[in-house]
Amino acid sequence: MKEYIDLRSDTVTQPSQEMREAMYNAIVGDDIMGEDPTVRELEAMSADILGKEDALFVTSGTMANQIAVATFTNRGEEVIVGDTSHIFNLEVGGLAAISQVQTRHFAIPNGLYDIKKMEELIQEEGIQRAKTGLICIENTNNLNAGLVVPVDNINEVCSLGKKYSVPVYMDGARLFNAAVASENQANEIVKNVDAVMFALTKGLAAPFGAVLAGDKEFIKKARWIKQRIGGGYRQAGFIAAPGIVALRTMMPQIAIDHKNAKLLGNGLSKLNGLKVDTSKIHTNIVTGSIEAIPITIEEFLSKLLDKGIKAKRISKTSFRMVTHLGIDEEDLQNVINSVEGIITNL
Ligand SMILES: Cc1ncc(COP(=O)(O)O)c(C=O)c1O
Repeated sequence: MKEYIDLRSDTVTQPSQEMREAMYNAIVGDDIMGEDPTVRELEAMSADILGKEDALFVTSGTMANQIAVATFTNRGEEVIVGDTSHIFNLEVGGLAAISQVQTRHFAIPNGLYDIKKMEELIQEEGIQRAKTGLICIENTNNLNAGLVVPVDNINEVCSLGKKYSVPVYMDGARLFNAAVASENQANEIVKNVDAVMFALTKGLAAPFGAVLAGDKEFIKKARWIKQRIGGGYRQAGFIAAPGIVALRTMMPQIAIDHKNAKLLGNGLSKLNGLKVDTSKIHTNIVTGSIEAIPITIEEFLSKLLDKGIKAKRISKTSFRMVTHLGIDEEDLQNVINSVEGIITNL
């Protein structure tokens, strides 16, 4: 029996037994010297899966994003980002603080990048202009209900980047959710982006890290920037090993998470007053609104917590619930019944 049904994020998972054993048994070496075979295996495996020349194991999705921007841009340039993107909203102003670039952000309704709009945002060289140094896209869209960006749309962004010689970087923290949901291989999705990262700690349920991938030259420079910001590892095979297990074993779980998110969303959408747009449940994120119910979001979440359920506030009237390895169908029914109980007892 679990203490909590924790739906705040897919980052709350516990590593599987196989991951724990892989950590214990990992063969390790000094990674800064390029001698940790387990890290190299994870990087080679990731590059292969993504169809990129090379890859770099890093601490977190945030670190991967920040290294990518620092690798691609020069001080004083501009980076085009979606207004709901993680890189813009949730990375402590890292683009300004670390890379000393400014952002030009724009809305991405329904997870789609409006190419015409993006083209208007591109700044070319000019005496008063901050030149566009990078376009960042995010797939899936974390703060936008986990929506998947269609491959055609990604390729349009990449063509635009090529037209203006601006590199395109994908924050693919949940890239494999996008792959499973859209029934595309990950390497097809990222074929035309210049670089991409995916997180090992979200749907893949590993305890640590993310991987950045791109061409050899990009990764060489990224490795150097990682070192500069204190991210050089020594015997990191211990933390890379569960990532290898995650890539080998967790894809079926992602499909289960998506099925569970739909089950949860459908169940919640039938409850009186609760608004859940089930058409937006592409992956493992369910968002709902309590606007039409006489309760504040804080009270709603607190009542859920009293019933042993953790969900996350995303605005004054809305919450999110994320499915993952630690959530099964019984939990979902429990959540639906509990929310129903809260609503009927108001
Ligand atoms: C889209 C996206 N990018 C980046 C990150 C950052 O990853 P991390 O928590 O590993 O730093 C997250 C985390 O939720 C995310 O959702």
